[in-house]
Amino acid sequence: MMTGTYTPAARMLHWLTAFCVAVTVPVALAMVRTPEGAFTNALYEIHKSFGILIFVIMMARLAVRLVKGAPPPAAGLTQAERVISKIVHVALYVVLVALPIGGYAATSSCCAPVKLFWTIPMPFAFSFGEDMIKTLFEMHELGGFLLIGLVILHVAGALNHALVKRDEVMSRMWAR
Ligand code: HEM
Ligand code: HEM
Repeated sequence: MMTGTYTPAARMLHWLTAFCVAVTVPVALAMVRTPEGAFTNALYEIHKSFGILIFVIMMARLAVRLVKGAPPPAAGLTQAERVISKIVHVALYVVLVALPIGGYAATSSCCAPVKLFWTIPMPFAFSFGEDMIKTLFEMHELGGFLLIGLVILHVAGALNHALVKRDEVMSRMWAR
């Protein structure tokens, strides 16, 4: 018996987030390792722009969640599964909102005004000093690796429900 399901809007935004994260993170890992030049600059532009997209999508997700709520935990979850998934979901929300804000603030202060996909300027009202910029980038890197860990846990959990336990959890987020 189904305990409920995510709304179409929540599901659409969930998979849009997953897609944008799948672009943003590998591009970031590549761009800090490739030599300076036009290619690396393009990777940075893609990273920053998709990062901003993630922020916008997360705002929409939060709005949908506040207005429409989320279904109650799936039936048949152990107490531990409820607690752990709750923690991972909340942490994903926090990290996906904090990372773009920090990255945007640090980049705008250190380097060049941020643009969305080479075109739309995204002016920043403040300009932070060197120490703050350094701290923000360190936190950005740390947050990036925290996100990778959270996504691994999250996807492992999802696959466990889809392939091993074969319960209703996956279908709550997957279009039917
Ligand atoms: C192949 C990749 C992924 C799969 C298979 C997957 C699957 C799922 C499933 C089945 C749920 C619903 C759990 C429930 O029944 O309560 C869920 C929720 C969630 N997922 Fe994913 N997910 C994936 C990628 C991601 C990524 C990349 C992110 C963010 C970085 C993410 C963030 C979330 C969040 C925050 C929730 C909780 C939604 C809420 O309750 O508001 N997911 N995911
Ligand atoms: C959810 C969105 C974001 C994620 C998941 C993310 C993730 C990452 C990761 C994993 C790194 C690589 C860290 C390293 O290995 O050194 C990185 C670096 C970087 N990110 Fe982001 N980021 C996001 C948003 C943004 C935004 C919006 C901007 C700017 C507008 C930005 C600017 C940068 C810059 C400039 C670097 C390079 C820092 C350096 O050279 O050490 N990021 N990001």
